[in-house]
Amino acid sequence: DAGHYDNGGYEHYLLKEISEQPDTVARTLRGRIDDRFHIAHLGGLDMDARETRSFRRVKIIGCGSAYYSGQIGAQLIEELARMPADAEPASEFRYRGPVVEPDTLYVAISQSGETYDTLAAVQELKRKGGRVLGIVNTVGSAIARETDGGIYLHAGPEVSVASTKAFTSTAVAFALLALHLGRVRDLSPADGRRICEGLRRLPEQIKEILTLEEQIRELAIKYADAPGMMFVGRVRGYPVAREGAQKLKEISYVHAEAYPASELKHGPLALISPELPTVAVVPDDELLDKNLTTLGEIRARHGRILMVGHRTSEAADDCVVVPKNENELDPILLTIPLQLFAYHAAVALGRDVDRPRNLAKSVTVE
Ligand code: G6P
Repeated sequence: DAGHYDNGGYEHYLLKEISEQPDTVARTLRGRIDDRFHIAHLGGLDMDARETRSFRRVKIIGCGSAYYSGQIGAQLIEELARMPADAEPASEFRYRGPVVEPDTLYVAISQSGETYDTLAAVQELKRKGGRVLGIVNTVGSAIARETDGGIYLHAGPEVSVASTKAFTSTAVAFALLALHLGRVRDLSPADGRRICEGLRRLPEQIKEILTLEEQIRELAIKYADAPGMMFVGRVRGYPVAREGAQKLKEISYVHAEAYPASELKHGPLALISPELPTVAVVPDDELLDKNLTTLGEIRARHGRILMVGHRTSEAADDCVVVPKNENELDPILLTIPLQLFAYHAAVALGRDVDRPRNLAKSVTVE
């Protein structure tokens, strides 16, 4: 597998794939933004406006990082299309005997398109008459074939076991889907335009974030000796925190736990000490002040804090500052420093970055 693809001179496929994201995000967007009407063109959906309007809610399923990108997707759909939406791990969904409703739009996410749990959930949905779209990277894969249309990521082959460029492209595909669903409902042309312009800014902003690599490498070395790390975020920042913790676990084997920042005081605050540093995802949005208060609570327990956001703050020991986009699109950008952090932590610890122990790129059995 890996042998078929050029590593482009990078030491690891993972770093190559992280670095490709200005281009892969541009490819997911290509030809899909209409600047005249501020809508998305998604030819693969195969659905007219009447059918698109017939759905009342959206249910998203996937495994691992695909599930976390689905959480970002659910928030985008709720915010932009004002439809109730949520994400769930595909296997959990399948085994709890879900109620399949005709006015729910189901969306299955998979980089490989071959993950058994996701495929089996799609088949179960179809058996019960559900309308299922796929957000898939691999053209012609099993999930792409089983779904009733969808959105291809066009991110190119992802070789490293831990998902990076497929994650960001999936979030971008959801922004397009949310724009599409929103513009046949309540989303105003002005807001549609705001999102279209924000999407177009992403590739350049990702390039800017990649220039922070040396700073993030030094921070990864500084924090990588901790026995564990806490990742926190609120609402838009929470799936970013979950994916950041997942990346760190997968490739560096450092224990990491993600929590909604608001839930910290209901349990995990007991864990906070100088031995358990916190990565805090703190965008400049309406929750900024609440997040900074949480940082103060961590500080008061002598917890070290690495803040990833849009400004520096004295409440944190270290800050990584990324460019600001529209609030709804910020999670896509905030994910990237956490990918670089996990990568450099894994390198510092001498791990097998592209082939972490016990994991497979695509789990095609149950
Ligand atoms: C495996 C990989 C994960 C990936 C998950 C879903 O567990 O190790 O990195 O997120 O499968 O893969 P998919 O191809 O369905 O997105």
